Amino acid sequence: MADGRAEASPAKRAAVALGVTAALCLAVAGLAGEAAYPWLKAAHVIAVISWMAGMLYLPRLFIYHCGATPGSETSETFKVMEQRLLRIIINPAMIITWVLGLWLAWKGGHFEAGWLHAKLALVLVLSGVHGFFSAAVRRFGEDRNRLSARQWRLWNEAPTVLMVLIVILVVVKPF
Ligand code: HEM
Repeated sequence: MADGRAEASPAKRAAVALGVTAALCLAVAGLAGEAAYPWLKAAHVIAVISWMAGMLYLPRLFIYHCGATPGSETSETFKVMEQRLLRIIINPAMIITWVLGLWLAWKGGHFEAGWLHAKLALVLVLSGVHGFFSAAVRRFGEDRNRLSARQWRLWNEAPTVLMVLIVILVVVKPF
C-alpha cells in the first residue's frame, strides 16, 4: 500500500488543479467579456469529457477487482487505481463541470428553458451515480464490496445512458 505521504499528494494536486482552473475561469470571465462564453463552454466540455472518462472506467476497474482475492497484491493495486482515479480525475472534473455549467446557464439566460430543466434532472441522477461509485471505492478499499462482477457490468451502463440523453438535450434542445 502507498504510505501517508503518497496518499496525501493526489488530494493536494487535485485541490491545486481546482484552484488554478477556477482562477483561470474567473480571469477569462472577467477579462474577456462576451467572448468568455465560448471559451468557458469549451472548458465545460473538456471537464465533462474528463468526468465521463472516469465514470466509464471506474466500474470497469470494479469488475476486474471482483476477480481479485482480497489482500492479494492485485487487489491492493486496484484499490490504489480506484482511489487515485476518483480523487485526481473524477471528483475535480465533476466540480468544474457543475460550476461552469451553472455559469453558462446564468450567462446564457438558459434557466427558463425546458431542455435545461431536463438536463439538470439527469445530471443530478449522474451525480448520484458518482456518489454511489465513490462509496463503492471506499467499500472496495475496506474489502467490503457487496456487488458481483455481473452487477457492476450493469452499473457500467448507467453513465453511458445518462451521457447520451444529456448530450442530446443540450445539443438538439428538443423543448
Ligand atoms: C452539471 C450541470 C450542468 C449544467 C448546469 C450544464 C449547462 C450547460 C449549458 C448552459 C451549456 C451551454 C448551452 C449553449 O450554449 O447552447 C452547456 C453546454 C454543454 N454541456 Fe452542459 N451542463 C451541465 C453538465 C453537463 C454534462 C454532465 C454533460 C455531458 C455528459 C454536458 C454536456 C454539454 C455539452 C456537450 C455542451 C456543448 C453543447 C453545444 O455547444 O451545443 N453538460 N451545458
